[in-house]
Order: sequence, then structure tokens, then C-alpha cells
Amino acid sequence: MKNNVVLITGGTSGIGRACALEFGRAGYIVVITGRDAVKLASTATELNAAGVKYHTVKADVGDIAAATQVIAETITAFGRLDVLINNAGLSMRAKFADVDVKVLEQLMQTNFFGTVYITKAALPYLLQSKGTIVGISSIAGFRGLPGRTGYSASKFAMNGFLEALRTELLPQGVNILTAAPGFTASNIRHAALMADGRAQNDTPRDEGNMMSSEEVARLLREAVRKRRRTLVLTAQGKLTVFLNKWLPGLTDKLVLANFRKEEGDF
Ligand SMILES: NC(=O)c1ccc[n+]([C@@H]2O[C@H](COP(=O)([O-])OP(=O)(O)OC[C@H]3O[C@@H](n4cnc5c(N)ncnc54)[C@H](OP(=O)(O)O)[C@@H]3O)[C@@H](O)[C@H]2O)c1
Repeated sequence: MKNNVVLITGGTSGIGRACALEFGRAGYIVVITGRDAVKLASTATELNAAGVKYHTVKADVGDIAAATQVIAETITAFGRLDVLINNAGLSMRAKFADVDVKVLEQLMQTNFFGTVYITKAALPYLLQSKGTIVGISSIAGFRGLPGRTGYSASKFAMNGFLEALRTELLPQGVNILTAAPGFTASNIRHAALMADGRAQNDTPRDEGNMMSSEEVARLLREAVRKRRRTLVLTAQGKLTVFLNKWLPGLTDKLVLANFRKEEGDF
């Protein structure tokens, strides 16, 4: 993979940061984005220590001008793009009855439109390299989850966008991988928005009992290498997607019971 370039949005924490190290150690040149300069610098230090060639771009993916600039900087720095990982994402935890709809707008802007803006700007270069577009979706993109109305909607939107685009691009040889991690230890629940739009700054779940971000990154790189179309992760995630397809009514009840057990009646 020497001289192949991977761009990872939200590459400064959790799954994105683990992907930066995983792909970098495998020989990719790595470009990472994020909104926080301090987190970008600390990930850059780790990439440097691992001997990875990299570039960082401070950008909000939900801002179309910034997203376009990310691709311009990538091409200026390295002249090509082989793998785009649309990973930057934000979650929520609030009942729909209580939530400010601005929270749902923000989630759509980051998770869905962020993916659209970056992919649009990157597409000419991925057509040239016959590369891969990855969307880091979620089990919530296959099965709506309570307290996550906006998050689930944004991930379902991502899935539909990626499926349509995959079909359009079949003749041009660009691969599209929709990846759905299950619960993964990261900062996602701390950063999740509550009903009033403030960050939760806590996790209601046992982070020690989850798949690690490093394991997700390893499985993701393998799926990119094999040019797979879908990657659904964790036993619980696979079971949820399977049950929802064949027994959706029962799955409504099981999912609600699980969330009440793990997170209480928030
Ligand atoms: N962890 C899980 O349980 C889980 C499960 C399924 C799917 N996922 C998905 O996996 C992806 C990565 O999440 P994670 O768990 O690794 O969470 P995380 O640790 O919170 O990392 C999120 C990353 O996205 C960046 N980001 C957030 N909003 C952004 C924006 N508007 N523009 C640019 N960058 C932005 C963050 O950096 P800044 O804050 O500095 O911008 C950070 O680097 C997300 O799409 C998430 O939905 C996670």
C-alpha cells in the first residue's frame, strides 16, 4: 500500500484515530481531519512516532467550504486519493418528546451532509484511482434505536446515499463499503448531545465491555483490502440486524428492553 493515500475524517479520536494508526502502519499515507487543533496535534505526534507519513487538516465536515478544502489540501500534499473514510460523527441521547430539533439538524449536518460534501469533492480523484469510499455508519443505520432518533435517521440517510452511489459507480470500479460498528469504546457517548444540545460528558454504558476502536480499525482495513460492500460488527450488532429483518416487532421490544436495562428510562 506504499504511496496509497487514505483520508479519514474525524481522525483524532476513537475509531478514526485507530484507523489512522492502522492504515499508516500498513504503509498508507494518512490525512486526518477534526475540528479541535489540540486533538489533531496529539494524533499527529502518535503518527509521527509510528513513522507514518501524514497531513492534518482542521475542518468541520458539515461546512461545505471546509470539506472541499480538505480534498484540495489532500491533493496538493500527495497528488492522489485511494481510500476515503467518512468517519466524523456525533451522537445524541434524548427522547424525541424532549429534544430540541436543532440537535437533529446538527446530527444530519455532520453525519449525513458531512459525508455528502467530502464524498462529492473527493469523487473525481477516487474515480481516477478506482479507490474505495467507506461510510462509518452504525447498527443504528440498520435498526432505529431509542433516544437516538436523529442519530438513527442520519445513519439511515448515509446508508441510502452510499447504496445509491455504489450502484451508480459499479461500471467505474469505485468500491463502496458501508461499515456498521456495534458499541465501540470511544469518546462518542461523552460527546453525544442531550435534549438541550449540550454534550453529555459521561457514558451510560460499560465502555470496558465493548469492542475496542483498534479492533474495529483492524477489521475495517481488512474489509477495504477485500473490497467488501458491508461490514456489520459485534455479535450483538449482527444479531440485532438479523432479528430486525425477520422479526421486526419482537426486535422493537428487545431493543427497548436492552436500552432500559443499560441506560435506564432517560
Ligand atoms: N463508538 C461507537 O459505539 C460507535 C458505534 C457505531 C458507529 N460509530 C461511528 O463511528 C464514527 C466515529 O465515532 P467514535 O466512536 O470514534 O467517536 P469519537 O471518539 O467521539 O470520535 C469522533 C471523531 O469525529 C470528529 N468530529 C466530530 N464532529 C465533527 C465535525 N463536525 N467535523 C469534523 N470532525 C468531527 C471528532 O473530532 P473533533 O471533535 O475534534 O471534531 C473525532 O475525531 C462516528 O461516525 C460514529 O457514529 C461509533
